[in-house]
Amino acid sequence: MSDSKVTQLDKTRGAHDEALISEVRGIMEAESLSQTALSQLTGVGKARLSQWLNGVYKGNVAAVETDVRRWLESRQASAALEGQMPTAPEWVETPSARAVLSALSFAQMAEAVSVIYGGAGVGKTTTLARYRDQAPNVWVVTATPAASAPGPILARIAQVLGIRASGAVHVVEANIIERVSETRGLLVIDEAQHLTHRALDAIRSIHDAAGIGLALVGNEIVYSQLTGGSRSVGFAQLFSRVAKRVRLSRAKDADVTALLEAWGIADKESRQLCLGIGRRPGALRGLSQTLRLASMFAAATGAARPSAEHIRDAWQDLGGEA
Ligand SMILES: Nc1ncnc2c1ncn2[C@@H]1O[C@H](COP(=O)(O)OP(=O)(O)OP(=O)(O)O)[C@@H](O)[C@H]1O
Ligand SMILES: [Mg+2]
Repeated sequence: MSDSKVTQLDKTRGAHDEALISEVRGIMEAESLSQTALSQLTGVGKARLSQWLNGVYKGNVAAVETDVRRWLESRQASAALEGQMPTAPEWVETPSARAVLSALSFAQMAEAVSVIYGGAGVGKTTTLARYRDQAPNVWVVTATPAASAPGPILARIAQVLGIRASGAVHVVEANIIERVSETRGLLVIDEAQHLTHRALDAIRSIHDAAGIGLALVGNEIVYSQLTGGSRSVGFAQLFSRVAKRVRLSRAKDADVTALLEAWGIADKESRQLCLGIGRRPGALRGLSQTLRLASMFAAATGAARPSAEHIRDAWQDLGGEA
Protein backbone atom coordinates (compact mmCIF):
# COMPACT_ATOMS: atom_id res chain seq x y z
CA MET A 1 0.00 0.00 0.00
CA SER A 2 1.43 3.39 -0.95
CA ASP A 3 1.60 6.28 1.50
CA SER A 4 -1.13 8.22 -0.25
CA LYS A 5 -3.47 5.25 -0.02
CA VAL A 6 -2.94 5.02 3.77
CA THR A 7 -3.83 8.70 4.14
CA GLN A 8 -6.90 8.12 2.03
CA LEU A 9 -8.00 5.26 4.27
CA ASP A 10 -7.46 7.35 7.43
CA LYS A 11 -9.66 10.05 6.03
CA THR A 12 -12.57 7.77 5.29
CA ARG A 13 -12.34 6.23 8.77
CA GLY A 14 -12.19 9.71 10.30
CA ALA A 15 -9.05 11.49 11.38
CA HIS A 16 -8.40 11.87 15.09
CA ASP A 17 -9.02 15.26 16.65
CA GLU A 18 -5.51 15.87 17.95
CA ALA A 19 -6.55 18.92 19.98
CA LEU A 20 -9.20 16.85 21.76
CA ILE A 21 -6.74 14.07 22.46
CA SER A 22 -4.23 16.44 23.96
CA GLU A 23 -6.92 18.15 26.06
CA VAL A 24 -8.02 14.79 27.45
CA ARG A 25 -4.43 13.69 28.04
CA GLY A 26 -3.81 16.92 29.92
CA ILE A 27 -6.81 16.29 32.21
CA MET A 28 -5.73 12.70 32.77
CA GLU A 29 -2.31 13.84 33.83
CA ALA A 30 -3.49 16.73 36.00
CA GLU A 31 -6.04 14.59 37.82
CA SER A 32 -4.16 11.29 37.73
CA LEU A 33 -7.03 9.66 35.85
CA SER A 34 -6.27 6.18 34.61
CA GLN A 35 -7.55 4.95 31.26
CA THR A 36 -9.84 2.60 33.18
CA ALA A 37 -11.34 5.53 35.08
CA LEU A 38 -11.68 7.57 31.93
CA SER A 39 -13.34 4.65 30.19
CA GLN A 40 -15.94 4.50 32.97
CA LEU A 41 -16.49 8.24 32.94
CA THR A 42 -16.91 8.53 29.19
CA GLY A 43 -18.56 5.21 28.51
CA VAL A 44 -16.00 4.45 25.79
CA GLY A 45 -14.64 0.90 26.00
CA LYS A 46 -11.11 0.60 27.33
CA ALA A 47 -9.52 -0.86 24.23
CA ARG A 48 -11.15 1.67 21.91
CA LEU A 49 -10.25 4.51 24.22
CA SER A 50 -6.63 3.46 24.44
CA GLN A 51 -6.32 3.25 20.66
CA TRP A 52 -8.04 6.58 20.22
CA LEU A 53 -5.74 8.25 22.75
CA ASN A 54 -2.80 6.94 20.76
CA GLY A 55 -4.29 8.21 17.53
CA VAL A 56 -4.50 4.76 15.99
CA TYR A 57 -8.18 3.85 16.36
CA LYS A 58 -9.41 2.27 13.16
CA GLY A 59 -13.11 2.18 13.95
CA ASN A 60 -15.69 4.94 14.19
CA VAL A 61 -13.54 7.77 15.51
CA ALA A 62 -16.37 10.29 15.34
CA ALA A 63 -18.51 8.19 17.70
CA VAL A 64 -15.70 7.96 20.24
CA GLU A 65 -15.08 11.67 20.03
CA THR A 66 -18.76 12.46 20.50
CA ASP A 67 -18.73 10.49 23.75
CA VAL A 68 -15.54 12.15 24.90
CA ARG A 69 -16.86 15.61 24.10
CA ARG A 70 -20.09 14.89 25.98
CA TRP A 71 -18.04 13.98 29.03
CA LEU A 72 -15.97 17.16 28.72
CA GLU A 73 -19.09 19.29 28.42
CA SER A 74 -20.74 17.78 31.47
CA ARG A 75 -17.51 18.33 33.38
CA GLN A 76 -17.53 21.97 32.41
CA ALA A 77 -21.20 22.35 33.29
CA SER A 78 -20.69 20.94 36.77
CA ALA A 79 -17.58 23.06 37.27
CA ALA A 80 -19.61 26.12 36.34
CA LEU A 81 -22.33 25.14 38.80
CA GLU A 82 -19.74 24.69 41.50
CA GLY A 83 -18.39 28.12 40.76
CA GLN A 84 -21.86 29.59 41.21
CA MET A 85 -22.70 27.62 44.34
CA PRO A 86 -22.04 29.96 47.19
CA THR A 87 -19.75 28.12 49.56
CA ALA A 88 -21.36 27.31 52.87
CA PRO A 89 -19.36 28.34 55.91
CA GLU A 90 -17.57 25.16 56.83
CA TRP A 91 -17.65 25.23 60.57
CA VAL A 92 -19.01 27.88 62.86
CA GLU A 93 -18.21 28.14 66.51
CA THR A 94 -21.75 27.93 67.83
CA PRO A 95 -22.42 27.78 71.59
CA SER A 96 -23.33 24.09 71.21
CA ALA A 97 -20.10 23.44 69.35
CA ARG A 98 -18.17 25.17 72.12
CA ALA A 99 -19.78 22.89 74.69
CA VAL A 100 -18.78 19.83 72.66
CA LEU A 101 -15.22 21.09 72.18
CA SER A 102 -14.77 21.73 75.86
CA ALA A 103 -16.07 18.28 76.82
CA LEU A 104 -13.68 16.72 74.33
CA SER A 105 -10.65 18.65 75.45
CA PHE A 106 -11.51 17.96 79.07
CA ALA A 107 -11.67 14.22 78.39
CA GLN A 108 -8.33 14.37 76.60
CA MET A 109 -6.51 16.53 79.14
CA ALA A 110 -7.87 14.76 82.21
CA GLU A 111 -7.76 11.29 80.63
CA ALA A 112 -11.39 11.05 81.66
CA VAL A 113 -14.72 9.97 80.19
CA SER A 114 -17.08 12.54 78.69
CA VAL A 115 -20.54 11.78 77.42
CA ILE A 116 -22.04 14.11 74.82
CA TYR A 117 -25.57 13.39 73.78
CA GLY A 118 -28.67 14.95 72.38
CA GLY A 119 -30.92 15.65 69.46
CA ALA A 120 -30.28 15.20 65.76
CA GLY A 121 -28.47 17.87 63.84
CA VAL A 122 -27.17 20.01 66.69
CA GLY A 123 -23.61 19.74 65.43
CA LYS A 124 -22.07 16.90 67.42
CA THR A 125 -20.42 15.00 64.56
CA THR A 126 -19.34 18.16 62.76
CA THR A 127 -17.62 19.40 65.89
CA LEU A 128 -15.91 16.06 66.55
CA ALA A 129 -14.32 16.28 63.14
CA ARG A 130 -13.24 19.82 63.89
CA TYR A 131 -11.62 18.79 67.17
CA ARG A 132 -9.88 15.84 65.55
CA ASP A 133 -8.36 18.16 62.97
CA GLN A 134 -6.96 20.55 65.52
CA ALA A 135 -5.75 18.29 68.35
CA PRO A 136 -3.15 15.53 68.15
CA ASN A 137 -4.00 11.86 68.66
CA VAL A 138 -7.75 12.08 68.38
CA TRP A 139 -9.41 9.02 66.92
CA VAL A 140 -13.05 9.21 65.92
CA VAL A 141 -14.80 5.89 65.38
CA THR A 142 -18.43 5.62 64.36
CA ALA A 143 -20.55 2.80 65.72
CA THR A 144 -23.33 1.41 63.55
CA PRO A 145 -25.97 -1.27 64.06
CA ALA A 146 -23.62 -3.69 62.29
CA ALA A 147 -20.67 -2.69 64.46
CA SER A 148 -22.34 -2.84 67.85
CA ALA A 149 -20.60 -5.84 69.44
CA PRO A 150 -17.05 -5.92 70.85
CA GLY A 151 -15.44 -7.65 67.84
CA PRO A 152 -16.68 -5.31 65.12
CA ILE A 153 -16.17 -2.11 67.09
CA LEU A 154 -12.64 -3.10 68.13
CA ALA A 155 -11.90 -3.90 64.49
CA ARG A 156 -13.16 -0.48 63.53
CA ILE A 157 -11.03 1.19 66.19
CA ALA A 158 -7.99 -0.71 64.94
CA GLN A 159 -8.76 0.42 61.41
CA VAL A 160 -8.92 4.07 62.46
CA LEU A 161 -5.61 3.62 64.30
CA GLY A 162 -4.11 2.13 61.17
CA ILE A 163 -3.22 -1.17 62.78
CA ARG A 164 -4.20 -4.75 61.96
CA ALA A 165 -7.95 -5.10 62.37
CA SER A 166 -8.34 -8.81 61.71
CA GLY A 167 -7.59 -11.75 63.98
CA ALA A 168 -8.69 -12.84 67.44
CA VAL A 169 -10.55 -10.17 69.38
CA HIS A 170 -8.23 -10.32 72.38
CA VAL A 171 -5.23 -9.81 70.12
CA VAL A 172 -6.83 -6.83 68.39
CA GLU A 173 -7.62 -5.41 71.83
CA ALA A 174 -4.04 -5.85 73.03
CA ASN A 175 -2.72 -4.19 69.87
CA ILE A 176 -5.05 -1.24 70.31
CA ILE A 177 -3.96 -0.77 73.91
CA GLU A 178 -0.32 -0.93 72.95
CA ARG A 179 -0.84 1.57 70.15
CA VAL A 180 -2.71 4.20 72.23
CA SER A 181 -0.87 3.90 75.56
CA GLU A 182 1.25 6.91 76.48
CA THR A 183 -0.18 9.00 73.68
CA ARG A 184 -2.31 11.36 75.80
CA GLY A 185 -4.84 10.63 73.09
CA LEU A 186 -8.61 10.70 72.94
CA LEU A 187 -10.83 7.94 71.64
CA VAL A 188 -14.20 9.22 70.47
CA ILE A 189 -17.08 6.89 69.70
CA ASP A 190 -19.77 8.64 67.67
CA GLU A 191 -23.24 7.09 67.46
CA ALA A 192 -22.38 5.25 70.67
CA GLN A 193 -26.05 4.40 71.25
CA HIS A 194 -25.55 1.46 68.92
CA LEU A 195 -23.03 -0.23 71.21
CA THR A 196 -24.04 -3.22 73.27
CA HIS A 197 -23.22 -3.38 76.93
CA ARG A 198 -20.30 -5.70 76.24
CA ALA A 199 -18.92 -3.42 73.54
CA LEU A 200 -19.09 -0.41 75.87
CA ASP A 201 -17.30 -2.44 78.47
CA ALA A 202 -14.60 -3.40 75.98
CA ILE A 203 -14.06 0.27 75.23
CA ARG A 204 -13.98 1.11 78.92
CA SER A 205 -11.24 -1.50 79.34
CA ILE A 206 -9.13 0.22 76.72
CA HIS A 207 -9.60 3.52 78.49
CA ASP A 208 -8.60 1.92 81.81
CA ALA A 209 -5.63 0.01 80.48
CA ALA A 210 -4.19 2.71 78.25
CA GLY A 211 -5.06 5.75 80.30
CA ILE A 212 -6.44 7.71 77.36
CA GLY A 213 -9.46 9.97 77.28
CA LEU A 214 -12.78 8.61 76.09
CA ALA A 215 -15.78 10.45 74.67
CA LEU A 216 -19.06 8.70 74.03
CA VAL A 217 -21.22 10.69 71.66
CA GLY A 218 -24.70 9.97 70.38
CA ASN A 219 -28.39 10.49 70.84
CA GLU A 220 -30.36 10.64 74.09
CA ILE A 221 -30.19 6.87 74.45
CA VAL A 222 -26.46 6.98 75.08
CA TYR A 223 -26.93 8.51 78.45
CA SER A 224 -30.07 6.71 79.50
CA GLN A 225 -28.30 3.43 78.67
CA LEU A 226 -25.64 4.29 81.19
CA THR A 227 -28.05 5.19 83.91
CA GLY A 228 -31.43 3.63 83.58
CA GLY A 229 -33.31 0.40 83.57
CA SER A 230 -32.19 -3.11 84.24
CA ARG A 231 -28.84 -2.51 82.65
CA SER A 232 -27.76 -0.02 85.29
CA VAL A 233 -25.81 -2.62 87.26
CA GLY A 234 -23.84 -3.67 84.23
CA PHE A 235 -23.13 -0.08 83.34
CA ALA A 236 -22.16 1.00 86.83
CA GLN A 237 -18.46 0.60 86.16
CA LEU A 238 -18.59 2.81 83.12
CA PHE A 239 -21.07 5.25 84.58
CA SER A 240 -18.93 5.83 87.65
CA ARG A 241 -16.15 6.97 85.32
CA VAL A 242 -18.18 9.61 83.51
CA ALA A 243 -16.57 12.83 84.61
CA LYS A 244 -18.41 15.22 82.32
CA ARG A 245 -21.65 15.09 80.48
CA VAL A 246 -23.02 17.51 77.94
CA ARG A 247 -26.62 17.33 76.90
CA LEU A 248 -27.67 19.17 73.78
CA SER A 249 -31.28 18.26 73.41
CA ARG A 250 -31.88 20.79 70.66
CA ALA A 251 -30.16 23.61 68.84
CA LYS A 252 -30.05 26.85 70.74
CA ASP A 253 -31.31 30.04 69.14
CA ALA A 254 -27.78 31.35 69.63
CA ASP A 255 -26.49 28.46 67.46
CA VAL A 256 -28.80 29.56 64.67
CA THR A 257 -27.75 33.17 65.11
CA ALA A 258 -24.08 32.21 64.88
CA LEU A 259 -24.74 30.26 61.71
CA LEU A 260 -26.68 33.14 60.17
CA GLU A 261 -23.89 35.53 60.92
CA ALA A 262 -21.45 33.25 59.13
CA TRP A 263 -23.81 33.14 56.14
CA GLY A 264 -24.10 36.91 56.19
CA ILE A 265 -27.87 36.82 56.67
CA ALA A 266 -29.00 39.76 58.71
CA ASP A 267 -32.54 40.81 57.81
CA LYS A 268 -35.21 40.30 60.41
CA GLU A 269 -37.62 38.22 58.37
CA SER A 270 -34.92 35.74 57.35
CA ARG A 271 -33.72 35.50 60.93
CA GLN A 272 -37.21 34.69 62.16
CA LEU A 273 -37.66 32.05 59.50
CA CYS A 274 -34.32 30.45 60.28
CA LEU A 275 -34.91 30.46 64.02
CA GLY A 276 -38.13 28.58 63.32
CA ILE A 277 -36.32 26.03 61.14
CA GLY A 278 -33.58 25.61 63.73
CA ARG A 279 -36.14 24.73 66.39
CA ARG A 280 -37.50 21.88 64.32
CA PRO A 281 -36.21 18.33 64.59
CA GLY A 282 -33.08 18.15 62.50
CA ALA A 283 -32.08 21.54 63.79
CA LEU A 284 -28.90 22.88 62.17
CA ARG A 285 -28.91 20.11 59.59
CA GLY A 286 -32.27 21.24 58.20
CA LEU A 287 -31.19 24.83 58.43
CA SER A 288 -27.89 24.30 56.62
CA GLN A 289 -29.56 22.34 53.84
CA THR A 290 -32.16 25.07 53.47
CA LEU A 291 -29.56 27.81 53.34
CA ARG A 292 -27.52 25.96 50.74
CA LEU A 293 -30.52 25.56 48.49
CA ALA A 294 -31.68 29.12 49.16
CA SER A 295 -28.24 30.34 48.09
CA MET A 296 -28.58 28.48 44.82
CA PHE A 297 -31.94 30.11 44.25
CA ALA A 298 -30.36 33.47 45.03
CA ALA A 299 -27.42 32.81 42.70
CA ALA A 300 -29.82 31.96 39.88
CA THR A 301 -31.29 35.44 40.15
CA GLY A 302 -27.86 37.03 40.43
CA ALA A 303 -28.25 37.91 44.11
CA ALA A 304 -25.26 37.50 46.40
CA ARG A 305 -27.28 36.36 49.40
CA PRO A 306 -30.60 34.59 49.79
CA SER A 307 -33.62 36.68 50.68
CA ALA A 308 -36.35 35.59 53.08
CA GLU A 309 -38.35 34.46 50.07
CA HIS A 310 -35.51 32.26 48.81
CA ILE A 311 -35.22 30.72 52.26
CA ARG A 312 -38.95 30.06 52.45
CA ASP A 313 -38.98 28.52 48.97
CA ALA A 314 -35.98 26.35 49.77
CA TRP A 315 -37.50 25.15 53.03
CA GLN A 316 -40.71 24.18 51.26
CA ASP A 317 -38.81 22.63 48.39
CA LEU A 318 -37.01 20.38 50.86
CA GLY A 319 -40.34 19.23 52.24
CA GLY A 320 -40.53 21.51 55.25
CA GLU A 321 -43.91 22.79 56.32
CA ALA A 322 -44.67 26.45 56.00
N1 LIG B 1 -20.98 24.31 64.18
C1 LIG B 1 -21.45 24.15 62.94
N2 LIG B 1 -20.98 24.87 61.93
C2 LIG B 1 -21.46 24.72 60.68
N3 LIG B 1 -22.42 23.85 60.34
C3 LIG B 1 -22.96 23.11 61.32
C4 LIG B 1 -22.50 23.21 62.66
N4 LIG B 1 -23.21 22.36 63.40
C5 LIG B 1 -24.05 21.73 62.58
N5 LIG B 1 -23.91 22.18 61.32
C6 LIG B 1 -24.68 21.72 60.15
O1 LIG B 1 -25.65 20.78 60.59
C7 LIG B 1 -25.43 19.50 60.00
C8 LIG B 1 -25.70 18.44 61.03
O2 LIG B 1 -24.72 18.46 62.05
P1 LIG B 1 -24.11 17.13 62.68
O3 LIG B 1 -24.07 16.05 61.70
O4 LIG B 1 -22.83 17.52 63.32
O5 LIG B 1 -25.22 16.82 63.77
P2 LIG B 1 -25.25 15.73 64.90
O6 LIG B 1 -25.43 16.45 66.18
O7 LIG B 1 -24.07 14.83 64.78
O8 LIG B 1 -26.61 14.97 64.55
P3 LIG B 1 -27.00 13.41 64.62
O9 LIG B 1 -27.40 13.17 66.04
O10 LIG B 1 -28.15 13.31 63.69
O11 LIG B 1 -25.80 12.62 64.22
C9 LIG B 1 -24.01 19.54 59.50
O12 LIG B 1 -23.85 18.71 58.38
C10 LIG B 1 -23.81 20.99 59.15
O13 LIG B 1 -24.32 21.27 57.87
MG1 LIG C 1 -23.86 12.82 64.28
